[in-house]
Amino acid sequence: MSIERLGYLGFAVKDVTAWDHFLTKNVGLMAAGTAGDAALYRVDQRAWRIAVHPGELDDLAYAGMEVDNAAALERMADKLRQAGVAFTRGDEALAQQRNVMGLLCLEDPFGLPLEIYYGPAEIFQEPLLPGAPVSGFVTDDQGMGHFLRAVPDPAKALAFYTEVLGMALSDIIDIQIGPQTCVRAHFLHCNGRHHTIAIAAFPVPKRIHHFMLQARTIDDVGHAFDRLDAAGCITSLLGRHTNDHTISFYADTPSPMIELEFGWGSRTVDPSWTVVRHNRTAQWGHKSVRGQR
Ligand SMILES: [Fe+2]
Repeated sequence: MSIERLGYLGFAVKDVTAWDHFLTKNVGLMAAGTAGDAALYRVDQRAWRIAVHPGELDDLAYAGMEVDNAAALERMADKLRQAGVAFTRGDEALAQQRNVMGLLCLEDPFGLPLEIYYGPAEIFQEPLLPGAPVSGFVTDDQGMGHFLRAVPDPAKALAFYTEVLGMALSDIIDIQIGPQTCVRAHFLHCNGRHHTIAIAAFPVPKRIHHFMLQARTIDDVGHAFDRLDAAGCITSLLGRHTNDHTISFYADTPSPMIELEFGWGSRTVDPSWTVVRHNRTAQWGHKSVRGQR
């Protein structure tokens, strides 16, 4: 029993206007109205995938983890109970705001609010109209993308995401972040997407280091790079990752120390997948240009 995929992300940010411009004009998402105090954005046929709330946090406020139906949600509730993880059931008002049929609210071991839900809304009758030229994003069975969770104690986080939420290790990368400092990043999957959550003790003062969206074509990546470069947001140049083979670049969001990875060409995992170890994040590229462009 596992969560099935990453469904949505909610951010609480100081500058909602800057986020609106970033997500629509630079990244190419579709503005999709509001829910409560949040502006909503579409990535695909779902009613929304990203919510941006006004707030002082300037960080990820919550992540929605999807299961397929009500029975699966109850199995997750049983699993949380057995593991001694505190949770509440989202009330009708919250379910309406998230546009889902039912949800459980909990926190991971380091305080990131998670919402395990089923029954999201789909609106095929309203085709996606991207805010900038993008042919579309890879979602469906692979969920909306991934994020890298920065935690002080990776072993504790890993135990929670694998043993309680049921995710599986894809591989690890030992990342040299300084002459004497190596950080081990763990990459976890819960569907074909190589990783839905990565966990590492990155020394960042935020809940996540970045979140990733996967475009349908390499030209989507090139055009998005040009838009974000013109906006002065690029933090690392194009490169291909060693583990999931994604060709991507990284850019600053309007919230300091929270980045977007915009990628294409990710390979998927299957039941015959073998856990391996890497000691580089990039096959080529991904040169850091933070503050230089
Ligand atoms: Fe990533």
